[in-house]
Amino acid sequence: MQIRYKTVGIVGAGAMGRGIAQIAAQAGSTVRLYDTQAAAVAVARDDLFSQWGRLQDKGRMDANAVEACKARLLPAASLQELADCDLVVEAIVERLDVKKSLFAELEAIVRDDAVLASNTSSLSITAIAAGMMHAQRLAGYHFFNPVPLMKVVEVIAGLKTDATVCDGLAEYARQMGHTPVQAQDTPGFIVNHAGRGYGTEALRIVGEGIADFATIDRILRDQAGFKLGPFELMDLTALDVSHPVMESIYHQYYDEPRYRPSVITAQRLAGGVVGRKVGEGFYRYVDGKAQVPAEPPVPQVDEMPPVWVSTRAARRAELHQLLKDLGATVETGQSPSLHALTLVAPLGFDVTTVAIVERLDPARTVGIDMLIDDAATRRRVLATNPATRTDMRDAAHALFARDGKPVSVIRDSGGFVTQRVVAAIVNIAADICQQRICSPKDLETAVTLGLGYPLGPLAMGDRWGPSNMLEVLFNMQTVYGDPRYRPSPWLRRRGAIGLSLLHEEA
Ligand code: NAI
Repeated sequence: MQIRYKTVGIVGAGAMGRGIAQIAAQAGSTVRLYDTQAAAVAVARDDLFSQWGRLQDKGRMDANAVEACKARLLPAASLQELADCDLVVEAIVERLDVKKSLFAELEAIVRDDAVLASNTSSLSITAIAAGMMHAQRLAGYHFFNPVPLMKVVEVIAGLKTDATVCDGLAEYARQMGHTPVQAQDTPGFIVNHAGRGYGTEALRIVGEGIADFATIDRILRDQAGFKLGPFELMDLTALDVSHPVMESIYHQYYDEPRYRPSVITAQRLAGGVVGRKVGEGFYRYVDGKAQVPAEPPVPQVDEMPPVWVSTRAARRAELHQLLKDLGATVETGQSPSLHALTLVAPLGFDVTTVAIVERLDPARTVGIDMLIDDAATRRRVLATNPATRTDMRDAAHALFARDGKPVSVIRDSGGFVTQRVVAAIVNIAADICQQRICSPKDLETAVTLGLGYPLGPLAMGDRWGPSNMLEVLFNMQTVYGDPRYRPSPWLRRRGAIGLSLLHEEA
């Protein structure tokens, strides 16, 4: 196999530069590594040598391959030493002026046919290329941290970028064992844009006092299958990294309400409570381990009332079956008896509104999230309304915990937790498709590899019902009167036919 770029220059030997240097050398390129701080190059080289040593110890690389990689990694003492490079990737400080002057300098050094790439995560490729002699040869090449483990890279075309440059970078990505996805030059590209739904909506739920951080993390892990809850994830990424990204994407999209950041993270960032690396974020860390508050206990209920389920409940038949399996006395009349616990299962609407509209007694009404099939979740989520009596809340909690499945009880909000967060993710993904920032296929690949979600957002929408997603959003728009929940036209068109129908975009 012919390597796409024989000699590759990397400018910036920090976390990202050294990761890119590692996979480029492993793919067979000669790598020239430069940094304004000579010490940074030496540290990076030592780090990579021990990295390769570890891979050899684990049997993932043989001694010859390790020696060859070490020989291919060449520290550069000046930018001039990058003159023979076929490709130069910059991973320096995230500042437009500094990146622009670096590329101006590089253009005077490298051959006219050398390709230039920027690992920027938030700056516009078009803006970086403005003023270059050969703007068509610059593309975005956005890797994720840690580079060798995060096997996806966004290849970004600026306004003037030549398509063959992107094709070459994509081919080279594959040679390095990464999956390339092609993105238009838009704020956040694919991954950082698609990632806005998760944390932002979760923060909004906390901001409304609906549930606390730990409860929301539990719900999204157990109900929707995310590996990390949004607050665990923010603690890991650290707010000094993620809050500025939230602000940047929001402002770059001219204050689009879907991306509105939260005052909660702004305040925590100001207070230095940024995450795991400082020992304190949404959770406290002792010896690197998160101190997670215990779950509220299941209440002791001696006399279980009969249960009546709203005729308009989502998955009503399944809910009836579940109640029978749990040993409840289920009422089947047109309306609940005077003592019955009354269950509603809305999509997008709040429990209070549903109780009033359906003329139910709010004091005995509790909501349950039935968006996801009960058999497919590891947790049940109930919501009270402001009038719900404590005995009714406790009865519902105890009843749904009878088979040992964990239960979270939250306050009333349109859309519960999972519905809100999943609908926000799906809606933003739909908007990315609507703007044709990338193909639906690349969106799914970028999100599963770059964000580690259990499913791509379009597959997620299909799994839990595109029409359900639309219903949640329409109803939340009514509850909140907030344009943030306005469904994307892309989602509206596909609400009835499915989101993963890719032939239109093929
Ligand atoms: P870093 O701070 O670890 O390393 C940057 C390195 O660049 C430093 O060693 C610094 O001495 C050097 N440098 C600064 N200005 C320079 C110049 N004019 N010429 C040569 N070297 C220079 O930063 P990190 O995290 O590696 O980020 C680098 C780039 O990658 C940034 O554009 C960042 O936005 C982007 N990025 C970072 C990710 C991350 O998770 N850290 C993820 C994806 C992209």
